[in-house]
Amino acid sequence: VDRPRPLVAGNWKMNGLKSSAKVLSEIQAGYTPGLKAKVELAVCPPATLIGMFAMMAVGSRVAIGGQDCHPKEMGAFTGDLSAEMLADAGATYAIVGHSERRQYHGEKDADVCAKALAAHRAGLTAIVCIGETRQEREAGRTLSVVKKQLRGSVPADSNSHNLVIAYEPVWAIGTGLTPTPADVAEVHALIRDELRRLVGKGEHAKVRILYGGSVKPSNAAELMAVANVDGALVGGASLVAADFLAIAGAY
Ligand code: G3P
Repeated sequence: VDRPRPLVAGNWKMNGLKSSAKVLSEIQAGYTPGLKAKVELAVCPPATLIGMFAMMAVGSRVAIGGQDCHPKEMGAFTGDLSAEMLADAGATYAIVGHSERRQYHGEKDADVCAKALAAHRAGLTAIVCIGETRQEREAGRTLSVVKKQLRGSVPADSNSHNLVIAYEPVWAIGTGLTPTPADVAEVHALIRDELRRLVGKGEHAKVRILYGGSVKPSNAAELMAVANVDGALVGGASLVAADFLAIAGAY
């Protein structure tokens, strides 16, 4: 089976003002035909910037995504945003179940699954995040935790077009620490194997499985070369156009 086209997605988290349009412009300028042929790029800015960024990105083929969505389409949910709203603003991706949402907003696998389903309903591709904590890794529970999160967070209607998995070990996020290539390979192989059950044989090989957690230009080539790593979900380094492009260029 051919390797799926890699996706390098930037998760800006709660960073970015209108003035950050400059960063998107630089990313677009550096997204050369050669790079386009090799990797898909997506930028997930805070929701306040999605509409503007999506308009800017028309024609450049940089995809725009949201960082979360509510399971419902509309209603009395002050402060929340539906997947339909993200799509209407021009997003084509929605990150769901990021560990910061799980940690600070108490999101459980069932919530993440409902959000991914909402993303699908709105025609978005859900980037479903999973990953173990430091304590879970130290207790030797990484594979069982990842398997459980995957089974609980991936909706039954998923396929290689509407689903991307992001494996982000919680202890590697924003810390400068990364798992060894062998550790990444072990988890990504398990995810690929589980996807066979979740999305079906054949289709499972085409779902992109991203690695996330302290991806930098200096370690991108090593991480991206690992089997079953089909791209990266980049936090801090995605805020600097040159770094984000260097990571994408590691393919
Ligand atoms: O979603 C990406 C993120 O959690 C990784 O953050 O800053 O370690 O690249 P960072």
